[in-house]
Amino acid sequence: MHNLIDDYVEQHSTPQSPVLDQITHLTALNVLNAHQLSGPIQGRLLSFLSRMIEPDYILEIGTFTGYSAICLAEGVRQKVITLEHNDELEDRIRQHLSLTPLGKKIDLLIGDAKKIIPALNHSFPLVFIDADKREYEIYLELVYPLVPAGGWILADNTLWGGHVIDHAYDKDSQTLALRLFNDKVVKDSRFETLLLPIRDGLTILRKC
Ligand SMILES: C[S@@+](CC[C@H](N)C(=O)[O-])C[C@H]1O[C@@H](n2cnc3c(N)ncnc32)[C@H](O)[C@@H]1O
Repeated sequence: MHNLIDDYVEQHSTPQSPVLDQITHLTALNVLNAHQLSGPIQGRLLSFLSRMIEPDYILEIGTFTGYSAICLAEGVRQKVITLEHNDELEDRIRQHLSLTPLGKKIDLLIGDAKKIIPALNHSFPLVFIDADKREYEIYLELVYPLVPAGGWILADNTLWGGHVIDHAYDKDSQTLALRLFNDKVVKDSRFETLLLPIRDGLTILRKC
């Protein structure tokens, strides 16, 4: 839910590029559940993190319409590899990626991340997990061997609209999976963990 403080935050942050405005607009016009897109503040955070880390390769799990992949591409040295299993989105994603030279730094792979990740052979100093909330633990274990020590894994929506602390959602499968994921990672000695209350919750894991 957008509120006055969100407006203030946006007004006091450097705006995103016009192409990201355009993709946001095209997504809202043409795609169901357009709210899934990261949005300007989280998008700038993804861009800043990517530019701070300057990794050779970034892995994104959950492309949707390409918005966050473009944000991540702003700092990558070689390629963002982004995974999307909904093949109905493929043409739209490719169209969005063609709107910016950054699109050339993005490789879109269509298919189930659970099947694709084990076949990847790059090292990924930065991973962004943003696909099926019920599968976050699976993605985390699959990417773990591909992340070097000192590398970073981001997991989106870890507050899930506040449902993680709301008993009304005790039977909701996505809420239950995210609670389990949050409880597990904070106790997992393989990581240092920071759950940032930005947008819908963004967990940053540092692989020890
Ligand atoms: C929240 S959206 C991603 C939003 C995007 N990262 C952004 O910020 O603009 C989640 C996407 O993950 C995809 N997805 C879900 N499960 C997946 C899987 N197992 N493998 C690949 N993609 C998956 C969905 O089809 C959806 O497009």
